[in-house]
Amino acid sequence: MDPLLSEEYFEHPEDMIAELRESDPVHYIASIDAWMITRYDDVRQLFADPNVSNDRSHYKGYEPAPEGSYLRWMSEHNFFSAPEDEHQRMRDLVSKSMTPRGVRRMEGQIREVVEQFAAKLRGRAGVVDMVGEFCAPIPNTVISRITGIPAKEDDEVRFRQLAREVISGISPVLDEEGRRTAENAIVELSSWVRELSEERSVRPREDMISDLLAKHGGEDAASVEEIILVISGLVAAGTETTSMGATMALRTLYRNPDQMTALRRDRSLMPNAVRELLRYDFGSAGLPRYAVEDFELRGKRIQKGQPLFLSFLGAHRDPAVFEDPDRFDIRRDTRDLTIFGRGPHYCIGANLAQLEMGIMLDAALDVLPEDSKLLEDQIEWMRLGMFSRAETMPIDFGV
Ligand code: HEM
Repeated sequence: MDPLLSEEYFEHPEDMIAELRESDPVHYIASIDAWMITRYDDVRQLFADPNVSNDRSHYKGYEPAPEGSYLRWMSEHNFFSAPEDEHQRMRDLVSKSMTPRGVRRMEGQIREVVEQFAAKLRGRAGVVDMVGEFCAPIPNTVISRITGIPAKEDDEVRFRQLAREVISGISPVLDEEGRRTAENAIVELSSWVRELSEERSVRPREDMISDLLAKHGGEDAASVEEIILVISGLVAAGTETTSMGATMALRTLYRNPDQMTALRRDRSLMPNAVRELLRYDFGSAGLPRYAVEDFELRGKRIQKGQPLFLSFLGAHRDPAVFEDPDRFDIRRDTRDLTIFGRGPHYCIGANLAQLEMGIMLDAALDVLPEDSKLLEDQIEWMRLGMFSRAETMPIDFGV
């Protein structure tokens, strides 16, 4: 069995990744016919290398959804798969809202959403699952508010569920049931966005759907299909990521009490702390790429259609770039972070994600008692091969 699929990797991924970075930086995982890339320079270069793509249709085991299905349409026109001009147009449609200035306009809305969930934690006693009550629902609710999905409680819950189901449709291999679930979710989300678009075209509001419809005085307005693709893209890319970032950030802070205290005392450190938290531990995930043709990397022959996993942990703990990389230090220089990718697919939500995580952690530090404790051995994990995700983050608030 490959070491990356072992219990040891799950327990201490950073140790095994460090070993691979040193001795086998382009590591072949025979059981899944894929590669794990662990050096910073390689990860950074592959983000924007034309030999590889993040479009899943390049995967050798890719099974296209049935012709004419919504899933097929979405799998061919999303941020990763759309033809170049279409992709650029999608980015142009949202990029202005996502500049540092654009996201500052959203700050009030984000604070309101965070407070909605933080309020329920204030003065609590006993064990609270910070994933279920805080880290998971907030990014989803933020996206639904920003885009213009109504803020009614029931709708938000359904939106959250839909987002998960739509995201599942992105997987390059889906069984029949998975395909049906994703297809239904995409149809439902699309008709929801279509209805809202029709409503906003008559009565615009302060939200993204209205902005997209009004773009450039209506001349270059987005079509309803484009709005559906853009909003699904934001939901797919901006919810689980931010939620995972915040979840792992809490674990890192509890594991480093001195740093947690320093951040409690001086919140002006937050922007850099967020970047350091993302550098230090964003889970063991690697970003997938698929070889577009055969090519060589550090003497290894990569074959067309094989997946390559660009390890964040590998890149961000690389001692060639980060001094004493296993030390968590919220004052560290984090300029070289590659957590938001690079090149044409650079994360469009990078500013939003950092602002949102900062506001979430700020509120969390206010509600988490100083003597609260993370019950690390009670964290529940979802594990899929070499990937794992914390499904719960139980914190004992005390009595
Ligand atoms: C901690 C949170 C986040 C992390 C670590 C993250 C990371 C990334 C990375 C690495 C990429 C590049 C993917 C690739 O090259 O294959 C990406 C793309 C993207 N992200 Fe984020 N992201 C986060 C949050 C967000 C948020 C909040 C949004 C928006 C609401 C967002 C929207 C997008 C979009 C639309 C793309 C695709 C861009 C394109 O293909 O042109 N992300 N993100």
